[in-house]
Amino acid sequence: MGNKMTKKIQNELHDSKEFLNALNWEDKEKYANFLAQTYYFVRHSTRLLCAAMAHFKDDRDTLFNRFKAHLQEEDAHEKIALSDLKKLGYSIDDFEESAFTRAFYETQYYRIQESKGISLLGYILYLEAIASFSQDVGERLYECYGKSKSQFVKIHVEEDPEHVEKAFASIDSLPESERNLVYRNFFDTSSLYKAVLNDVFFHGGLEFSMIA
Ligand SMILES: [Fe+2]
Repeated sequence: MGNKMTKKIQNELHDSKEFLNALNWEDKEKYANFLAQTYYFVRHSTRLLCAAMAHFKDDRDTLFNRFKAHLQEEDAHEKIALSDLKKLGYSIDDFEESAFTRAFYETQYYRIQESKGISLLGYILYLEAIASFSQDVGERLYECYGKSKSQFVKIHVEEDPEHVEKAFASIDSLPESERNLVYRNFFDTSSLYKAVLNDVFFHGGLEFSMIA
């Protein structure tokens, strides 16, 4: 991690990693619901990037280009989650999109409007950082289900960790008011993502289990 990353951010990422590692990834139905909720919010990633980019004028070319590159990286990632889900033997219709998942990504559309695109950096940064910290979860999934059913986690674990450092560096160069918006969104994203996972692993489940 970059030198300028504050202790608070390091602590938040550390806590998130511990939280992820403590989840029962070996429960197939929970893992399938994780993939379903992932599909439901990841399908908005490219749209969120476009919505944010539309606000960046030519004085924001660096950020515009960074988001454009990210847009290509994210292209069709939701389909990988969906494909893992199908290989596990489930259909997306087996799992409803949760209120937490909706709260997770819908917030971003509003904040993009309010912050003229900049706040999305906090959302991206959190998700990228968490992905690069998920090697232990990846190993458990490969062991339990095989790599062919763990492609979504696998491609994100293997992404270049320098990405995260670059993202932190681009935040440090922002004016303070914008930096604060980005960091607030970073911490809120962490809380909301944990709420999504908490619901998946401790409450949610198959559609039919609710009426059984
Ligand atoms: Fe992705």
